[in-house]
Amino acid sequence: MDVNKLLHKMTIEEKVGQLMQLAPFFFIKDLEIEVAGHVSDIGINQEKIFQSGSVLGIRNAKEMIEVQKRYLSQSRLQIPLIFMADIIHGYETIFPVPLALSCSWNPKLAYQMARVSATEASSAGIHVTFSPMADLSRDPRWGRVVEGFGEDAYLSSIFVKQMVLGYQNNDISKPGNVASCVKHFAAYGAVEAGRDYNTVDVSRLFLHQYHLSGYKTAIDAGAKMIMTAFNLVDGVPSTVNAYLLREVLRDQWKFNGVTISDYDSLHQILEHGCAEDNKEAALLGIEAGLDIEMASSCYVNYLKELIDEGQVDIKLVDEAVTRILELKNEVGLFENPYKGADPELEKQLIHNKEHLHAVKSIADECSVLLKNENVLPIKKGLKIALIGPYAQSRSTNGSWSWHGKRELNSTLEETLTKQGFTPVLTLNVESQEDISTQDKEVLKTVDIVVIAIGEDAYESGEARSKTDLSIPRKQTTLIQLTKELGLKSVVVLYSGRPLILDQVLEADALLYAWFLGSQANESISEVLIGKVNPSGKLTMSFPRNVGQIPVYYNYFNTGRPKREGIQNEFVSYYLDVANTPIFPFGYGLSYASFKYGNLEISSHELNPKETLTVTIEVINDSDVPGFETIQFYLRDYVSKIARPIKELKGFQKVWFDSHASKVIEFKISLNDLVMIDATGHKYFEYGKFAVMVGPNSEEVQSKDFKLIKESEL
Ligand code: NOJ
Repeated sequence: MDVNKLLHKMTIEEKVGQLMQLAPFFFIKDLEIEVAGHVSDIGINQEKIFQSGSVLGIRNAKEMIEVQKRYLSQSRLQIPLIFMADIIHGYETIFPVPLALSCSWNPKLAYQMARVSATEASSAGIHVTFSPMADLSRDPRWGRVVEGFGEDAYLSSIFVKQMVLGYQNNDISKPGNVASCVKHFAAYGAVEAGRDYNTVDVSRLFLHQYHLSGYKTAIDAGAKMIMTAFNLVDGVPSTVNAYLLREVLRDQWKFNGVTISDYDSLHQILEHGCAEDNKEAALLGIEAGLDIEMASSCYVNYLKELIDEGQVDIKLVDEAVTRILELKNEVGLFENPYKGADPELEKQLIHNKEHLHAVKSIADECSVLLKNENVLPIKKGLKIALIGPYAQSRSTNGSWSWHGKRELNSTLEETLTKQGFTPVLTLNVESQEDISTQDKEVLKTVDIVVIAIGEDAYESGEARSKTDLSIPRKQTTLIQLTKELGLKSVVVLYSGRPLILDQVLEADALLYAWFLGSQANESISEVLIGKVNPSGKLTMSFPRNVGQIPVYYNYFNTGRPKREGIQNEFVSYYLDVANTPIFPFGYGLSYASFKYGNLEISSHELNPKETLTVTIEVINDSDVPGFETIQFYLRDYVSKIARPIKELKGFQKVWFDSHASKVIEFKISLNDLVMIDATGHKYFEYGKFAVMVGPNSEEVQSKDFKLIKESEL
């Protein structure tokens, strides 16, 4: 299709229509509404509906075909709709939530998850997924941490990249692949106090160094679209922020794909107090470089008027429409408007054996063992009781799993039973109060109590901010009960965010199980009985209490750092709690026991054209084979712009047979030492650095080296 020729045939109304995205409901009134927010009252008539360019949130192939048919029957130029949806961690076969996925420290799994998601979604006629979410957050009060890949820009970007590559598979024209729309540009994870949609105020330096890193990585990996965020950046709503959408995105990053607002976020700039009315919102949006307006009607109702009045140059609209038509062209919609949609294939793919197997093997690497006082794995023959609200729950999909059929998931009781570990007593209870005296007597006879507790799936995700992150609804009384009865206990904790664990740590073991999707309990039970050796490590630091938030590993030293063993009250610390998290970034246990030898460095000087080699021997000092993730951090001791006390620069997840030892090697080159300034440009400084290697961000060995000028050699 010659997009230019087509553009010339289009009326202004038809062009403007392309910039509007609507829910399927608009085209077929009797469809159920699946999307959040107001849909019916956005003030558009039937004619405008049938000029719109894209659809949000189609549910299956049959529905897609119906909507497209209906649309094309009324479309003068036969420009097909493009279908977009939130396929965040699986379409109908649900994978671990992204935060859990990142705890695998295995980016290949992100690729695999995105591939399966893409094949299922494509068979339903979806062409674009609103994923990955590249927002960085250090605040577990924000419910959307569940959708991201943790607190670290480096690690998160690696996962973001694999998601984009997996979805698009190099060719979005092929059925089975979908285009990726990275979101939410920009810095949405930095909402104040973790309250969703709240104000964001980050410095340009932190914006470029941390927050923009994930979106940029996605775009460099070829993501076709980017979604703006709900929040302000520099006081300007991201959706109409010309600095972000023009200077950064188009000029610096050379992005030539499509930009889209978040749900109703163009209209919401009125609420921000940045536009007087929808007409002004339309003007600001198009000037800033916003192409598609999702679920509101500022463009469709006012752009023509603005053009007629000479306030908006038609060129701006033409550019946006061209990008959208090019995307449609690349997807292959002009040749086949029903591209991908195949009800038969859809049936074959969703929840098929192979896809479920992929979920299970991915889930196996995501749960994080945080404590284990010689109780796990549970030995065959022991009498177990299973108690807690998750004992018989199938709610393991987590947020954004709208296609996932939770009734198909197994409960922990079922999966333990299947493994031959049938609980002698299962109690679907929330707290101690719900347990009868009779059941307490039975409890006394068991060897081990598995306590399955946590947050409900609906307690994390969009608009799910919280100020109290303790385990809800008195569930920890179940742990107290086991203590009172002198019983061994294992907590399995389901959650979409880090929670405050003080009371949970009374248990003898704690497996942080997140929401692992369609095969969650299959995986969890195999971990509990030792069929699977846990290998997940945290990608968000776990705070000791809510007052400590934000707590993160790559903090700055301050001018008055707290030093171990030195008493001085005028330093940066709290009177009531340590500065450190309860579990640091990178932390997680295994049933194997890994010992680290001495860190070696090939030279104490590095010149910019060379590389240094650091090595460390890692030994599996146990009979249990398993994975260990060895982490590599750097610190720049002296820099005009201060640097954090450590920054992750590499990691290796390595398999160790029992008693195996391996020498792990990392290379350091100039690339690892460059920094990004407040304008987004890279620079480096000569001087002293430290390299640190270890099993997590706290237990590291360190060696110093100097980056020197060649002339100093
Ligand atoms: C609002 C969410 O912020 C965004 O992540 C999502 O893609 C859109 N709604 C569309 O559902």
